Amino acid sequence: MAAKLSILVSMVIICSIACAENQNQFTYNGFNGASLHLDGVAKIHPNGLLQLTNTSYQQIGRAFFPMPITFNTSSLSNDTDSLLFSSTFVFAIVPEFPELGGHGITFIISPSMEFEGAVASQYLGLFNTTTNGLSTNHVFAVELDTIKSPEFNDIDGNHVGIDVNSLQSYASATASYYSDREGDNKTLKLISGKPIQLWVDYDEKEMLLNVTVAPLGTRKPWLPLLSARLDLSKTLVESMYVGFSASTGSMASDQYILGWSFNKSGQLQDLDYTKLPPPPPPRRRSRWKPDFRIVIPLVITSLLVMTLIGAAYKMWMKKYEEVREEWEQEYGPQRFSYRDLYKATKGFKGKELLGIGGFGEVYRGILPSSNEQVAVKRVSHSSKQGMKEFIAEIASMGRLRHRNLVQLLGYCRRQGELLLVYDFMANGSLDKFLFTNEKTNLNWSQRVQILKGVASALVYLHEEWDQVVIHRDIKASNILLDAQLNGRLGDFGLAKFYDHGANPQTTRLVGTIGYIAPELARTGKPTTSSDVFAFGNLMLEIACGRRPFEPGRPPEEIILVDWVQEFWKSGMIVETSDPRLEGEYVGEEMELILNLGLLCANPAPATRPSMRAVVQYLDGNVMLPKIFLDDSTHSLIGVPLPNQKSQKDTPYPVSGDNISMNSLSSSESILSYGR
Ligand SMILES: *[C@@H]1O[C@H](CO)[C@@H](O)[C@H](O)[C@H]1NC(C)=O
Ligand SMILES: *[C@@H]1O[C@H](CO)[C@@H](O)[C@H](O)[C@H]1NC(C)=O
Ligand SMILES: *[C@@H]1O[C@H](CO)[C@@H](O)[C@H](O)[C@H]1NC(C)=O
Ligand SMILES: *[C@@H]1O[C@H](CO)[C@@H](O)[C@H](O)[C@H]1NC(C)=O
Ligand SMILES: *[C@@H]1O[C@H](CO)[C@@H](O)[C@H](O)[C@H]1NC(C)=O
Ligand SMILES: *[C@@H]1O[C@H](CO)[C@@H](O)[C@H](O)[C@H]1NC(C)=O
Ligand SMILES: *[C@@H]1O[C@H](CO)[C@@H](O)[C@H](O)[C@H]1NC(C)=O
Repeated sequence: MAAKLSILVSMVIICSIACAENQNQFTYNGFNGASLHLDGVAKIHPNGLLQLTNTSYQQIGRAFFPMPITFNTSSLSNDTDSLLFSSTFVFAIVPEFPELGGHGITFIISPSMEFEGAVASQYLGLFNTTTNGLSTNHVFAVELDTIKSPEFNDIDGNHVGIDVNSLQSYASATASYYSDREGDNKTLKLISGKPIQLWVDYDEKEMLLNVTVAPLGTRKPWLPLLSARLDLSKTLVESMYVGFSASTGSMASDQYILGWSFNKSGQLQDLDYTKLPPPPPPRRRSRWKPDFRIVIPLVITSLLVMTLIGAAYKMWMKKYEEVREEWEQEYGPQRFSYRDLYKATKGFKGKELLGIGGFGEVYRGILPSSNEQVAVKRVSHSSKQGMKEFIAEIASMGRLRHRNLVQLLGYCRRQGELLLVYDFMANGSLDKFLFTNEKTNLNWSQRVQILKGVASALVYLHEEWDQVVIHRDIKASNILLDAQLNGRLGDFGLAKFYDHGANPQTTRLVGTIGYIAPELARTGKPTTSSDVFAFGNLMLEIACGRRPFEPGRPPEEIILVDWVQEFWKSGMIVETSDPRLEGEYVGEEMELILNLGLLCANPAPATRPSMRAVVQYLDGNVMLPKIFLDDSTHSLIGVPLPNQKSQKDTPYPVSGDNISMNSLSSSESILSYGR
């Protein structure tokens, strides 16, 4: 009873201080008397200033609103409007030395106020090398990062980033704001010491996350700095804490929060700027005044010595030689040094070899700078021609970010050799699980999860990114499995980038036999539809536990699609399921995946669904159309069920050219799905 009463009392106190009607919203105009949960070096000054870190090195400071916030992720609720949350706060970062501060502040939403094993410096008090990137973190953060950390692909040392479970930002941009008055973007210096306001707004229905910054006193710019499509439903759990984490490394700043407002479901109240504590005192100028009479000769001599050493080093260290050209400068952050990669892979030792693909060998490595595990792919190339375009594409690939893509971290170029550095995938490639006894069998739900993951990555590549990315080599050996057995699409060695709406160009035919769509073999034009063809084959492979093309089999079984189609004709499609599953699968899902696989891998490109439609079918949001076999073209046609909403909602292309309703009525067999 007493305990209950004291909780009640403390809640009343919190509410009165936070001026909030309930726990899912609060406003702090200064933190005087606020009962925040403080951690590390964080403290509240008597004037209400919340200081997360001071200039001591390698420190972490955190502050949380003490009550959990309820995020109902189970359904899209019919709330007054679709806003999941919004927050605004005012911060100030005063570097230890002018121009030299570290490391940054993050606004976090996390299932816990404890961050076990988290380290300071570039990890900002959130993660460590092991925990960074784990989907089990359930941590969402907006980072104000004042140091460029190459291992996280940071764009610069003055950026704002959206982080989901990882410090490798989902999206980031140099701190700047859109000045409504001048109609122009203005750069903001995070470590200016001046108060800056940040807004985070997330719209759950639109899955749109906006981050906006502006100097304190400026109205919220109507154009956000970052506006990213982001599905947080998998990240946020029902009960989450909101707060801040900041860290220092071997460089440090005083990092402050002046005021903060949060609303789980509703419009934010504006902060009352008149009540905010005074901004932090400016740091006294550094006592050390360089004496240029000494410094200049010193710099010149050391430069000279360094040049000499550099020249000698170059001669001796021929084995680390790389090719770098001026135009590569713009892709700077993604460039790794050969030396690091050489060390990481212990000199490309045979023991570190993970596999050999059509385009080169892949080695396991541990980056010396961060202890991060990576996979390094060595591709030999001879021609200088096209290298610039190739590197530009690599730079584009490095910007692709999806949790079902193997992240390309960077590259290195040498004479006759190109090295591509990727995230390390703990479980290796899918084909090892399906077709060899090297790895344990995958159960049905794991298989479905892998397919759904890869499908969503393909929607991202085909439709959601700035450009259309055609992967061109989707197959089981290019699907890599991370520690949680999530399918991640890898190996962009062949990918092609096109502007949306552009006409794909004919290219040298690449791909893998059994996955190459017939029209691609004819025209040489890769399209999103030829990717869908390969994905269809992948679906059949996963369901049947068979490769798409097995020349060793009896003639009618060599081509997987044809074999499955024969069973489909006789209404026994489920008979083709992988015997290794021993009947342990969900019958409806098996039927859906086999049918959908056939539809995707059918010879007429126009009748294949788009990847977005595939995802909708897989998720069960849209019913798979009835499938007919068209006698004249020997291709399958899907006709949306009459009760489905509209063509737009079911982006299923009904081929209009050569198929009339007459030919449908004479179709050989009718298969209805899901009834
Ligand atoms: C930073 O704060 C910690 C803990 O309050 C204190 O021990 C340390 O002396 C402070 N460092 C500086 C540089 O003020
Ligand atoms: C979450 O939403 C669902 C569906 O609207 C509802 O049934 C459930 O009670 C909600 N949970 C909470 C904790 O509000
Ligand atoms: C939301 O409202 C619409 C109509 O107002 C209703 O059809 C739908 O079932 C509601 N959804 C939920 C999750 O309550
Ligand atoms: C990171 O933190 C986790 C959780 O405390 C711990 O198990 C792991 O050993 C840590 N990793 C490193 C490299 O310190
Ligand atoms: C300003 O920045 C935004 C977001 O980064 C960008 O979309 C916009 O085009 C920029 N505007 C100008 C005038 O540079
Ligand atoms: C995010 O910004 C865009 C404009 O870029 C705007 O249309 C959208 O409504 C904003 N969403 C939220 C949740 O603020
Ligand atoms: C949160 O939103 C509700 C509804 O718009 C509003 O009444 C309330 O004042 C807001 N609270 C805060 C702290 O902004």
